[in-house]
Amino acid sequence: DVVDVRRLVANGVFTYDPGFMSTASTESAITYIDGDAGVLLHRGYPIDQLAEHSDYLETCYLLLNGELPDAESKQQFIAEITQHTMVDAQIAKILDGFQRDAHPMAVMVSLAGALAALYHEGLDIDDAAQRKLAAIRLIAKMPTLAAMTYKHSIGQPYMSPLNSLNYAENFLHMMFGVPADKPNVSPVLAKAMDVIFLLHADHEQNASTSTVRLAGSTGANPYACIASGISALWGPAHGGANEAVLTMLNEIGDESRIEEFIARAKDKDDPFRLMGFGHRVYKNFDPRSRVMRKICDEVLADLGVENDPLFKIARRLEKIALEDEYFIERKLYPNVDFYSGIILKAIGIPTSMFTVIFALGRTPGWISHWNEMLSNPYKIGRPRQLYTGPVQRDYPA
Ligand code: ACO
Repeated sequence: DVVDVRRLVANGVFTYDPGFMSTASTESAITYIDGDAGVLLHRGYPIDQLAEHSDYLETCYLLLNGELPDAESKQQFIAEITQHTMVDAQIAKILDGFQRDAHPMAVMVSLAGALAALYHEGLDIDDAAQRKLAAIRLIAKMPTLAAMTYKHSIGQPYMSPLNSLNYAENFLHMMFGVPADKPNVSPVLAKAMDVIFLLHADHEQNASTSTVRLAGSTGANPYACIASGISALWGPAHGGANEAVLTMLNEIGDESRIEEFIARAKDKDDPFRLMGFGHRVYKNFDPRSRVMRKICDEVLADLGVENDPLFKIARRLEKIALEDEYFIERKLYPNVDFYSGIILKAIGIPTSMFTVIFALGRTPGWISHWNEMLSNPYKIGRPRQLYTGPVQRDYPA
């Protein structure tokens, strides 16, 4: 009965750990985080070194394969990705069924699900080569799906991928280009986009990655697993924070009101929190935030919008909070979302697309974890529960 189940927990027969705060669900050799020290390593390499010396596709290769590619393997990987950037014509038909103001994350869940329909027959997830093909397809097609989703929302024709451009340039081209126009992508913005993707590429067993693993543990189609990851990411507690940063900056509205909002954030009777500050894992400067901060400066300068009132509010807010005892004592630093929101806004990406950018960047992480799980002996993920309902009783006669 109920009491017996609680006794099982008390006796250590199984653990009760809501939110998995102290339960590892898996072994993994992909990503290491030390939140207190502000360390994030992919396959052993520090994220700041990857952001400086590597690029997104090379980091995808690293996450998937465990080692950095040599020059030839890198070119081959890029060629394979480039070869798979197109999507089946059926995808446009599915998109056309959505109303224009459908949330882009809802659309992305459906389009990833549609890939499962397109690539299911004959799929053998026990075959390493087929798993690799699924990973290549996903990394290659996510920018196309994301840009098509955006173009649909604004009623413009879809742009075909342009394989002469690199990954980030091609994405910006498909987002903002118009047919028959020569591609015109600023190298600074393309580099910023590439680094944003790279900084989101993996973050070990977060909610969406755990969701992908859990779905994958049943033997489900990998594209369907990614659709479940996109669903989990959509929530404001996971992928939606950079959108909240922009909402907050707009609400502040003027530099003269920053102190008022800081005071509200410190007031324990006010539920308001400074969006883009603090992190569950990082009790130090998130190493990704340092990189994002630098990119943010470069993008604002490239676009000549440093004096835009919204960005001035962001900069002033950051300075005040970093010097404020309340934030220092609690180790509340600007997180990656604080800067990514500002950069994406400056590039011209609408806030409703922010989480889609996160999903695109996180795809190699999701699929690498799925592949890692399937490459080793694994069990179906099946958490236990602590039953608190009624004990057995008879249906009223
Ligand atoms: N503004 C003001 N005070 C804050 C903030 C904030 N942004 N974040 C935490 N605090 C305070 C809390 O009130 C608490 O104060 P107390 O000790 O006086 O009670 C203390 O700092 C610790 O806060 P917790 O909620 O225990 O910290 P936790 O690690 O659980 O929360 C979280 C982390 C949820 C990210 C939090 O900092 C927050 O809400 N931040 C704003 C939202 C945000 O930016 N989210 C994005 C996170 S990054 C990502 O998901 C990729």
